[in-house]
This record gives sequence, C-alpha cells and structure tokens, in this order.
Amino acid sequence: MVGSPNINGNTAKLVNAILDGAAENGAEKVIYNLASLDIKCCDACCKCQESGCCLIDDDMKEIYQEIRDADTVVLGSPVYMWQMTGQTKLLIDRMTAFLKPDFSSRLDNKKLVLVFSQGSSDRDAFKPYFEYTAGLLYYLGFDVLETVIAAGTDKLEVSFRPRLLEKTRELGKLVSTPNLSGSGFRRAESELISIL
Ligand SMILES: Cc1cc2nc3c(=O)[nH]c(=O)nc-3n(C[C@H](O)[C@H](O)[C@H](O)COP(=O)(O)O)c2cc1C
Repeated sequence: MVGSPNINGNTAKLVNAILDGAAENGAEKVIYNLASLDIKCCDACCKCQESGCCLIDDDMKEIYQEIRDADTVVLGSPVYMWQMTGQTKLLIDRMTAFLKPDFSSRLDNKKLVLVFSQGSSDRDAFKPYFEYTAGLLYYLGFDVLETVIAAGTDKLEVSFRPRLLEKTRELGKLVSTPNLSGSGFRRAESELISIL
C-alpha cells in the first residue's frame, strides 16, 4: 500500500522493490495506491467494534479483505510535515475496524513492513515518530518486521540508488520466506533499518 500521491515516487519504488523481492519467493504481489482510491474518513459510528465490519461504502471494503487475506502487508508513506501523509492516516483510522470492543485485535499472524521516505538526510530526524507508528500498528495486530527509512530523497531520489533498491528487494525476499515465524519477529525484537 502506497500512501504517496506520487504514483512512481520514492515510496512507490521502495514498496515495489519489497513486493518484487517477495514475488521472487513465489508470493503474490498486489499493490494499491491509496491516493487513487476512494477512502473516506472514519465517521466515528463505532459500529465496526461489534461486527468488525465498517459500514462506509467505499474502496476500504476491498482493502479490508485484502489485508485479511494477506500474509504480509507493506505500508509505505512519505514524511509530510513530520508525519505520514493524510492518505495513509485515512487508512490507519479506518483500521479501527480490526479492533474488538475490548481493543484486542481481530488480526492474527499478520506481518507488516513499514516504509518511510523523507526529504531530510538526517536519518534520525523522525525516528521517534517511526517507532510510535510501528507501535500503533503492533497494537492494531500486525507483527511489524522492519521499518525501512529512505532519507535524503530531496537530494537523491530512490531511482538513482540501485544499492538501496537491491537491499529493499532482498528484504522482500526475507520477509516472504515461508518458514518465517511471525512471533519470532515481533516488534520488540525488530529494529528500525535505515538505508541510504
Ligand atoms: C507537503 C510535503 C511535506 C513534506 N514534509 C517533509 C518533512 O516534514 N520532512 C522531510 O524530511 N521531508 C518532507 N517532505 C519531503 C518528502 O518526504 C520526500 O520528498 C519523499 O521522499 C517524497 O516521497 P514520494 O516520492 O513517494 O512522494 C515533504 C514533502 C511534501 C510534498
């Protein structure tokens, strides 16, 4: 899932590289550009808490199903104003449907790789925010395997960094390894990886 309005931008290239690596392992590659989907704001009706189903009739219907069916989700966003993009936040808010009334998760054994690209070349500039976001996704029920950070894109776009793309592709291969146990890679044991 790509949360950038740039369909062929840095974030999309990184997410694609991970999915390509996974596809080399035989995984099915499905990619969504959130900006081109109809994803409305959560309207706080909270009906999803009991049923697990959101009543809003938009493209999230397909996304919910896709996430439920997927072994691994790759979620990428550029940093906009120190945070994820609005498109990505809309998705995250709607993921409240994955929580039960007691706020435990309806998801089970769901792996996730988080991807951020940022203009700033200071790799640590938004580290607390990336960790916070990984924590949120963990709370929603995902086993966050890695957070990939591509820093300094304002100076050098990802397309001019073949080593970065290759490393990201290798990560895709790694996380799609069939015997990778979700519990062995829970957030507490994973680290943020920064790739320049
Ligand atoms: C509205 C806007 C806000 C941005 N805010 C930040 C920011 O706070 N920090 C930063 O390092 N880069 C910021 N950037 C730069 C983007 O994060 C960077 O160019 C990113 O690689 C774009 O990804 P994309 O090619 O997938 O769209 C911003 C860019 C835009 C358009």
